[in-house]
Amino acid sequence: MKAALDGDDRVRVEIVTADAAAEDFGAGLPAADLVWASRMVHHLPDQQAGVARLAGLLRPGGRLALAEGGVSARCLPWELGVGAPGLQDRLLGLRDAGFAQMRTEITGAVSMPYGWNVALTRAGLAEATSFSVLTDHPAPPTPAVRESVVAWLTGLSERVGERLGEPDRATIAALLDRSADTYIGAREDIYILGTTTVFVGRR
Ligand SMILES: C[S@@+](CC[C@H](N)C(=O)[O-])C[C@H]1O[C@@H](n2cnc3c(N)ncnc32)[C@H](O)[C@@H]1O
Repeated sequence: MKAALDGDDRVRVEIVTADAAAEDFGAGLPAADLVWASRMVHHLPDQQAGVARLAGLLRPGGRLALAEGGVSARCLPWELGVGAPGLQDRLLGLRDAGFAQMRTEITGAVSMPYGWNVALTRAGLAEATSFSVLTDHPAPPTPAVRESVVAWLTGLSERVGERLGEPDRATIAALLDRSADTYIGAREDIYILGTTTVFVGRR
């Protein structure tokens, strides 16, 4: 996504659908004040080249913002009374292992053994820095938090898929069964706590 300030200070936002791994990515687009890419660059074979391509979309003085990293949301108590304690730690561990495998399976993957602020600097951007935004919806949960936690557990368990052992799979089925006493969405002790980190550099 690119955003530009018009002369009268209105923000003009342009949604661009394109392959950020392609050599001609962004060709023909007007230079932008802001390029925002959220959790996308880590899917590219050559992440550093992708950052450089995104940086190339900026006008002088424009900023590239990358939402990457951060601290994954936690939503559950350690012990749930169903299945073995520590379910969310196992799920997040399996998710991370899946991420590592995803990187190794990308054709032409290039390692980037440093952090995103360094990647911004190596892409020729100045003042590379970062900040983190806290997401904190403490227990007891509102109805919206209940639904979000159900969606989080559903999405996370689908993502780790067959890596999940049968006992944890049975636990998750019990937690997601809306008609059962074990339904996660009916608990008073669920919450959402996590952070999103944004790395910013200026051309
Ligand atoms: C983890 S999702 C993030 C979605 C959303 N931006 C967010 O922050 O929630 C990864 C996104 O990267 C996009 N993506 C993966 N490879 C890409 C590529 N080569 N060019 C452009 N987008 C890509 C996918 O289409 C997907 O939308």
